[in-house]
Amino acid sequence: MIYMDHSATSPVDIEVFNAMKPYFVESYGNASTLYSLGREARRAMESSREKVASIIGANTDEIIFTSGGTESDNIAIKGTAYRFKRRGNHIITSNIEHPAVDETCKYLEKNGFEVTYLPVEKDGIVNSSDLEDAITDKTILITVMHANNEIGTIQPISEIGEIARENKIYFHADAVQSVGKIPVNVEELNVDMLSLSAHKLYGPKGVGALYIKKGVRVEPIIHGGGHEKGIRPGTENVAGIVGLGKACEISENNLEEEAQYLTSMRDELIKRVLSEIDESYLNGHPTKRLPNNINFRFTGIEGESLVLHLDSKNIASSTGSACSSKKLEASHVLMALGLKEVQAHGSLRLTLGKENKVEDIDYVIESIKNAVDTLRKMSPLWCQAKV
Ligand SMILES: Cc1ncc(COP(=O)(O)O)c(C=O)c1O
Repeated sequence: MIYMDHSATSPVDIEVFNAMKPYFVESYGNASTLYSLGREARRAMESSREKVASIIGANTDEIIFTSGGTESDNIAIKGTAYRFKRRGNHIITSNIEHPAVDETCKYLEKNGFEVTYLPVEKDGIVNSSDLEDAITDKTILITVMHANNEIGTIQPISEIGEIARENKIYFHADAVQSVGKIPVNVEELNVDMLSLSAHKLYGPKGVGALYIKKGVRVEPIIHGGGHEKGIRPGTENVAGIVGLGKACEISENNLEEEAQYLTSMRDELIKRVLSEIDESYLNGHPTKRLPNNINFRFTGIEGESLVLHLDSKNIASSTGSACSSKKLEASHVLMALGLKEVQAHGSLRLTLGKENKVEDIDYVIESIKNAVDTLRKMSPLWCQAKV
């Protein structure tokens, strides 16, 4: 299998797996207990907290462990909304967010909040003057993703953060796709809160973290024991947290080298597909994009058929985010770029990872070419376009 769907999830690094293993059957203590087994679990958790803090340039007491990106986004958004509802009821986000942010905002809209969904330019970037225009005296939160999960576009987060700060509005960034792929520093990005998730950076599924800047207060959205400062109560997933820490440590050490490796494979794939396949296009920004993200559009075919064709050639790819790839609606991200529905349906996402090999690129390109060719021969859309 040539796995090119790393934005959906990534394989667990063997070093991460080995680091986690003792915390299932040997050092299984509850990290809240007083005896040595519990203290050992607590120590492992605190060491992971340091590693997570380090990859994003935060302090350890600013890291809250969660069950992943979705939970981190929910705590940041609902937690701020509930805490500051007396100050205002307006939230600003973009119209290309992951459902973990988008659906949370829609939920709040049904519960008395007002949400502005900022449009993006045709290359997928939020315009900061649109943001400035959207701010009102009721705005309590801006939440904009760092890098998009479908088209890989990287937003001007530090600029957005400056605007938020000048206007005394809290700012949250979903950095689930960017942490481990590009440098992420919470100070430079001017964020108050930032979400990340282990399974996107060769860690386990079901564990993540939320950075909450010192002094920023959010209302808990679930209630229980006092774990994680009462912001995320529940017995800690020690093995998962150890895995997250190890994944962050490995990613931080290899960030630059890995980004260069992925960028060169990405650019080679883009250059060759665009030049060798008629009526093929790149969705998203040509350069302000994640080193591992490619999102093509091919006239006259459906992305889903292409994904299945490539699967029969042992290549794992996607049409968009893992969550929306089973729905047959056109991607809201691609529609936000101004594409027609039929164009949005002809898209293919390849997201590369460190275990992909340069030697496989030829095979992947040949397989895409053959699949596009075969599908176009059967496609009424393509035949009509060619008459
Ligand atoms: C940008 C973004 N945010 C949030 C999430 C949700 O993260 P998790 O799967 O850890 O809940 C994802 C997962 O695809 C994502 O890509």
